[in-house]
Amino acid sequence: MARNVLILPGDGIGPEIMVEAEKVLNHVNEKFSLDIATTRALVGGIAIDETGHPLPEETLEKARNADAILLGAVGGPKWDKLDMALRPEKGLLGIRSQLGLFGNLRPAILYPQLADASTLKPEVVAGLDIVIVRELTGGIYFGQPRGIRETESGEREGFNTYRYTESEIRRIATVAFDLAMKRDKRICSVDKANVLEVTVLWREIMEDVAKDYPEVELTHMYVDNAAMQLVRAPKQFDVIVTGNMFGDILSDAAAMLTGSIGMLPSASLDVNGRGMYEPCHGSAPDIAGQGKANPLATILSTAMMLRYTFDEQAAADAIEKAVFSVLDQGLRTGDIHSEGCTLVNTSDMGEAVLAAMKA
Ligand code: IPM
Ligand code: MG
Repeated sequence: MARNVLILPGDGIGPEIMVEAEKVLNHVNEKFSLDIATTRALVGGIAIDETGHPLPEETLEKARNADAILLGAVGGPKWDKLDMALRPEKGLLGIRSQLGLFGNLRPAILYPQLADASTLKPEVVAGLDIVIVRELTGGIYFGQPRGIRETESGEREGFNTYRYTESEIRRIATVAFDLAMKRDKRICSVDKANVLEVTVLWREIMEDVAKDYPEVELTHMYVDNAAMQLVRAPKQFDVIVTGNMFGDILSDAAAMLTGSIGMLPSASLDVNGRGMYEPCHGSAPDIAGQGKANPLATILSTAMMLRYTFDEQAAADAIEKAVFSVLDQGLRTGDIHSEGCTLVNTSDMGEAVLAAMKA
């Protein structure tokens, strides 16, 4: 039976970067006889425009039936005034939670060719290779109760709830420890256990899971310190595991260490390794439709999909090698451009990756 991949281009630069990723996917599909069939659906702002909802039933149904999902990006100023429940972001959060995609892997790798693109000194970031494991379906993003209400004194009050159950913590810990076993066997768990009870429990469960992985070294860090250490000495980390909101924030900071968030892929996995793959960057409405977007994060997300959901290591390697090669050739989109390199547009970059794979 064919492997079923759902393509969700989304909003802003989503559609244009997805075109390039699909070129690459079609090529490896044929070359490695992967038997992948793709379908498309609407999510985010475009889905609101066409159906009135950021996550139409039809999209959710297709997502449930897919073996993997490739997503561009969602959101934009056009939909920012809508009610919270109908924002484009709800489409993304809905897929994550409805499909149980709790394990979010966000690698931050500095390609040596891009050492100059980072705002940090090359010696601080050269050779950087870390992964943030972010819990994606719990924590303050989903905790109930939540809302904006009126207090007894007639003043409005906004509130959210930060909660994690033991089993939620345990399963994300297991993802992180399994990953660490394939890497440098070091995990830093990030919490705010000096203030928040929920993360006192988080820390306790991390320690407990660590007993099953005697080879892995587990350390703990408060989130404020972790933010500082990430920009001070990021190479001290191997795997960082943290909750939903801290992971959201720290992964943007980690992305920037590598020169551009336009380079970073991500995977969001369920318990069976089925998943959604998307670039870490957003929909960048300011540059949408201008051919300026960097398609490499989406192309690298495609490689992650082949690696994690389909276990097609050779096809994934081929894509990653091709990306390395275009960087070697000095080809750069605007976000990673520096002196002496060749500035290319979105589709030129996609074509160059394709050409490198065919070479
Ligand atoms: C991310 C994004 C999303 C998040 C938004 C778009 C809802 O920032 O994937 O990091 O906060 O999770
Ligand atoms: Mg984010």
